[in-house]
Amino acid sequence: MNAGTDDRYILGIETSCDETAASVVLNGRTVLSNVIASQVEYHTKYGGVVPEIASRKHIENIGYVVQEALDTAKQKTGVGIDRIDAVAVTNGPGLIGALLVGLSYAKALSYGIGKPLIGVNHIYAHICANYLGQRAVQPPFMCLVVSGGHTSLLYVHDYLTFEILGGTYDDAAGEAYDKIARAIGLPYPGGPNIDRLSKEGNPHAYVFPRASVGEYDFSFSGVKTSVLDTLNKLRMKDEPIPVVDIAASFQHAVVDVLTEKAIQACKNKGVTTLALAGGVAANSGLRSQMERLCDKNGIDFHVPELVFCTDNAAMVASCGYFKLCAGETDGLNLNAYPTIHPDHLSRYIG
Ligand code: KG4
Ligand code: ZN
Repeated sequence: MNAGTDDRYILGIETSCDETAASVVLNGRTVLSNVIASQVEYHTKYGGVVPEIASRKHIENIGYVVQEALDTAKQKTGVGIDRIDAVAVTNGPGLIGALLVGLSYAKALSYGIGKPLIGVNHIYAHICANYLGQRAVQPPFMCLVVSGGHTSLLYVHDYLTFEILGGTYDDAAGEAYDKIARAIGLPYPGGPNIDRLSKEGNPHAYVFPRASVGEYDFSFSGVKTSVLDTLNKLRMKDEPIPVVDIAASFQHAVVDVLTEKAIQACKNKGVTTLALAGGVAANSGLRSQMERLCDKNGIDFHVPELVFCTDNAAMVASCGYFKLCAGETDGLNLNAYPTIHPDHLSRYIG
């Protein structure tokens, strides 16, 4: 797709889960500001995100976060709210109450400044994180999207068209990380904690199963059950739990499966560029193994900068830019959806 010749500034807003985020992005790629107010401290004691708390915290934070994103962009480049070309906002999938806070704010702002509103699918936005900053990539490419709520292997034909090759039969990769972390006594969010401990453990201490499901599909229930069984047996025998070894062995199993399937998909389809997206793309083991095996197989590997892997609004603004270039804007009747909406699915081929 031709990205257009005129500079376009998009304000992105993201409130689908427990991060209130806003960002100004130029032409879908150059990040002028990226403000993220994390709510992790309010949810950690419950072991996961409490939707009602998330919505209330978004309401408290959204005004400040958007203002800071606009102020930072203005300080950096002199670009003020009068130069914003559109307001892009995540309208699904995610926690419905949380989504509605960002969506309502975006509607009011778009109406107030007289600029188009653009609803953005959160999963597309994660893919668009690959267009941001120094590590920008251009379609077509294979993309492994691994987040807290989603695991998919997609072929990205162009900026707005994707082909789903496979997905998870059960838990998302991040969800499996969070559940195992909880079982071994690590706080929410579990992914970064398991990743950190893995570096100290022996990845071969336990051999957890690598699920063999459809060619490009994933299943994490087997590895999860196997880790839980191991923990139960150790506890029944009153033996100490080797937390670092379990973390490292679990990570090894998950990373092996993700890496192997993504690379196999590239080989089968003759695709020479592979990108990662979503919160689990921040995982150090996944990044390094993917890089090593891509190198070995002659595949060009891309991964977003760490800050653009987990939830942020720059990726939403980037996606909004490509939708604006394609003339895809929304009315003030735009709604929020907790799961993937049929309108979004029509983007997918296959
Ligand atoms: O994309 P994201 O921020 O939110 C969703 O859209 O779900 O992903 C959050 C998920 C959580 O499950 C978190 O544990 C996981 O990403 N995560 C990680 C790492 N950093 C975040 N998982 C493994 N290793 C990490 N370093
Ligand atoms: Zn996300």
